[in-house]
Amino acid sequence: MEANVERIAKHIEALSKFTSTPGEGVTRLSYSKEDLGARAYIKEQMETYGLLVYEDGMGNVFGKLPGRGTDLPSVIIGSHFDSVPNGGAYDGAAGVVAGLEVAALFQEHAITPEHPLEVIAMVEEEGTRFGSGLMGSRGIVGNLTEEYLNKTTDNDGISIREAMTHAGVNTEVPRKRDPKTIKAFLEMHIEQGPVLEEAKVPIGIVEGIVGLAQLEVTIEGKAGHAGTTPMEKRKDAMVTAGKMVGQLPELAIDEGYGTVITTGKLQVYPNGANVIPNKVVFTVDIRAGEEQQVLNVIDKTKTLIQAHSVNGMKIHVEEQLYIQPKALDLSIKHLLEETSKTHNITYLNMNSGAGHDAMVLSDVTPTGLLFIPSLNGLSHCPEEYSEPADIAKSVDILYTAIKELVLGK
Ligand code: GLV
Ligand code: MN
Ligand code: MN
Repeated sequence: MEANVERIAKHIEALSKFTSTPGEGVTRLSYSKEDLGARAYIKEQMETYGLLVYEDGMGNVFGKLPGRGTDLPSVIIGSHFDSVPNGGAYDGAAGVVAGLEVAALFQEHAITPEHPLEVIAMVEEEGTRFGSGLMGSRGIVGNLTEEYLNKTTDNDGISIREAMTHAGVNTEVPRKRDPKTIKAFLEMHIEQGPVLEEAKVPIGIVEGIVGLAQLEVTIEGKAGHAGTTPMEKRKDAMVTAGKMVGQLPELAIDEGYGTVITTGKLQVYPNGANVIPNKVVFTVDIRAGEEQQVLNVIDKTKTLIQAHSVNGMKIHVEEQLYIQPKALDLSIKHLLEETSKTHNITYLNMNSGAGHDAMVLSDVTPTGLLFIPSLNGLSHCPEEYSEPADIAKSVDILYTAIKELVLGK
């Protein structure tokens, strides 16, 4: 094996320490203190491996190994370094560490590529802080407007721009990257599901990624005293929200074809035990392999929600994220398959039920995505675990594949 398992394990362990919930999983919100700690660590490692470090205007971190050919487009490898609340140490981080390890191997073998190699660590893929999933990669492909950065806020009312400025990100630097400067993007990610583990196969080569939509529903009723307001006089936003959320799973089940729907975030206002809630905000995450299913369930969700705007309840639905299902690049997939065979590493072709930055970058450049097994199929929880030896296997494949991509003209 070329990749260094201990070095990989050390980086995973080091990044896991940058959490605001020690002992209760990794919680690393974009542009937070923990982000700044992880960011500094990643940059330091990039420098150690001889990469030139820079950030774009969103605070995505890049480490570049310049190529011999000036003006040739870069091969980029990496993932995101933010997390969900109380998540694991591998989601995103494993892909960043894989990128670092590829760079370490380039250094150890003193390879000067023709095309530049860039390792990337992206912000806000999870959308945990700003409800803005895949934000780092959407910035790179030019999907984010100034207005969006100014108006989108976290739970404390801090806008993306304010958070970036506070974290020292130079927002004057361009976010959007000219696609002509990218030859290919490769991401390694934990599977986050049970398929590879059950099949006892160490590598998944991803062919397609589900389409996904995220809606934010706001219900406004009327606050009042929990003890003195008769039941028939109430406009309780929480009761209405509860009815809606309870009916959502049926929409996905009825739609079929593996369609899934989740309410994972709910805020109650003013959030007092003896106050009738006057406002509830909750999210609806809808995913399916085919776009039509996602669209159908968005429509059905809106219809269901509007059906509850009786009794003077005010209801507002906002579409926060919509991404079509994506097929990944066939030539990169073929290269990854051939490279796996060269290394005698078995693989499965599979699809991804999770969203990934790869699905955004695939709009502008040939993109490949590798999976490694997740213990018990678990992810987005503190128990998330993948074997460093499996990360190392993925690095061997990526290192060989990337050498081919960066050494070719
Ligand atoms: C990211 O983990 C997503 O699939 O939402
Ligand atoms: Mn995730
Ligand atoms: Mn992820």
